[in-house]
Amino acid sequence: MVGGLARLNTTVRFGDSEEEVCFLRLAKLEEAASFEGLLHATEREQAAAVPNPLQRSRFVVSRGLRRTMLSACTGVSADSLVFAHDGEGKPRVPGLTGWDFNLSHAGDYVAVVVGCGSVGVDIEKYREVRDMESIVGRYFHPEERDAWHALPLARRPAAFFLLWSAREAAMKCAGLGLAKGLSVTRVDPGILEQGTGTAWVGDRLLQLRSLPAPEGYELVICRQEHPALI
Ligand SMILES: CC(C)(COP(=O)(O)OP(=O)(O)OC[C@H]1O[C@@H](n2cnc3c(N)ncnc32)[C@H](O)[C@@H]1OP(=O)(O)O)[C@@H](O)C(=O)NCCC(=O)NCCS
Repeated sequence: MVGGLARLNTTVRFGDSEEEVCFLRLAKLEEAASFEGLLHATEREQAAAVPNPLQRSRFVVSRGLRRTMLSACTGVSADSLVFAHDGEGKPRVPGLTGWDFNLSHAGDYVAVVVGCGSVGVDIEKYREVRDMESIVGRYFHPEERDAWHALPLARRPAAFFLLWSAREAAMKCAGLGLAKGLSVTRVDPGILEQGTGTAWVGDRLLQLRSLPAPEGYELVICRQEHPALI
């Protein structure tokens, strides 16, 4: 939604307290070589086993970035961070309470967000989607659908990717994949005009921000205060 160049290191403030700040970094795949030295030995082995160069670069950048960002934010040494997935597939660091992280890849970019509570991020690259209208009809919440149909035709493709990105960031913040998250997610369509808004995933109320993204991309982050911090 927002034009202009990406700010590669972004601090996003959701409120006044320190806990309401999220840290976002957007990195390009062409930077992969500079992330290799940041990987844990096990990740280097995993990277070497990825045959496709694009997928290998995505792996290297995302693993290097999340390790260094998490270490910088939490003070835990980068080498001692151990990653696992929870039951729904959301990557976590067991035992790291209070903090959360999430990552997304699209096109030439990897986005990683770190923050307190729960966080989610999604980056989407504009592409041709022939059945856009039927996807909106099938998967978007009626309020999102109505807002999308009310837009002039020329705005609909970008709005589709912004709403899709917002929906995914919200689902990923809540820790759900598409299979469980799609039907229980509702995004405030106000994000189309204001670049900010709320989302519901089931009974969880989340906050969304659309961020400046490179030309041809949408980038949205999502946050929910951890119940223990409220
Ligand atoms: C999570 C998901 C929504 C992301 O989709 P995407 O737009 O293709 O991919 P993105 O690049 O934005 O995000 C991928 C990252 O999200 C993270 N992720 C995976 N599952 C997640 C979950 N349940 N919650 C939050 N984050 C998740 C991972 O870090 C993953 O990257 P990695 O595999 O390199 O570690 C999607 O992969 C998904 O739904 N996965 C679960 C399986 C599922 O339900 N499939 C149904 C298909 S209809």
